[in-house]
Amino acid sequence: PLVSMKDMLNKAKSEGYAVGQFNLNNLEFTQAILQAAEEEKSPVILGVSEGAARYMGGFKTVVGLVKNLMDEYHVTVPVAIHLDHGSSFEKCVEAMYAGFTSVMIDGSHYPLEKNIALTKRVVDVAHTLGVSVEAELGRIGGQEDDLIVDDAEAAYAVPEECKELVEATGVDCFAPALGSVHGPYKGEPNLGFDHMKKIDSLVGIPLVLHGGTGIPTKDVQKAIAFGHAKINVNTESQISSAKAVRETLDADAEMYDPRKYLGPAREAIKATVIGKMREFGSSQKA
Ligand code: G3H
Ligand code: ZN
Repeated sequence: PLVSMKDMLNKAKSEGYAVGQFNLNNLEFTQAILQAAEEEKSPVILGVSEGAARYMGGFKTVVGLVKNLMDEYHVTVPVAIHLDHGSSFEKCVEAMYAGFTSVMIDGSHYPLEKNIALTKRVVDVAHTLGVSVEAELGRIGGQEDDLIVDDAEAAYAVPEECKELVEATGVDCFAPALGSVHGPYKGEPNLGFDHMKKIDSLVGIPLVLHGGTGIPTKDVQKAIAFGHAKINVNTESQISSAKAVRETLDADAEMYDPRKYLGPAREAIKATVIGKMREFGSSQKA
């Protein structure tokens, strides 16, 4: 069923695993992720950035696609459709109106008071509709679609500010920037585990780890132990699908049927997602 993230993340946190947010980019991503979740009997969060929604034909197109595929595949596991890095109150409302069951309002580039006020406004609307809300503090580095944060701008979340934001807004889950990066890492990721531990004990609600691509398993396990119940992955599925397309086309210069090169891309995404579900511990938890 289509549900919000609230119950799935609270269950994950109390049982010590994380639910993956896997980002949609097109039809094949949507198919692969839903198939992986059903096969693994795993709850799943479908992440949709504003850029990806534009590419796919708008929020309503995405919701229609997800609902129809869920029917077609007889999906029984909990699925959330989540706006990733929502840029404004208006975009969040538009997504909810289209049928999204969850939204992230990313006010991380604003001063604390403005981030709190904006997040609170989104929570007030979302919670009357049963929609869950994720907020962010600090700045996650790297690039995802329109969102670009260079090394100088990237900043760790301040624990006391996290407590203040979570208490003042009533958000369902929370993404503190702690050194993870969107896109491939330059060298080994360096996550701020001391900050993480402190933030977990101060806020209590499920934490969200962005930039899940390329984080070593030992760090994933530590992050889960320190309160993370949601881990976002996009680039890793993109890399595996691009590799499959490249290899398939390279192997046959006469190939032109998209089903013949996007089919292998879909299989590659599915394999990536299944690997992450097992690593995060969400397999067989639905
Ligand atoms: O919001 C989406 C994620 O944070 C994706 O990060 O592309 O580095 O896996 P990633
Ligand atoms: Zn992100």
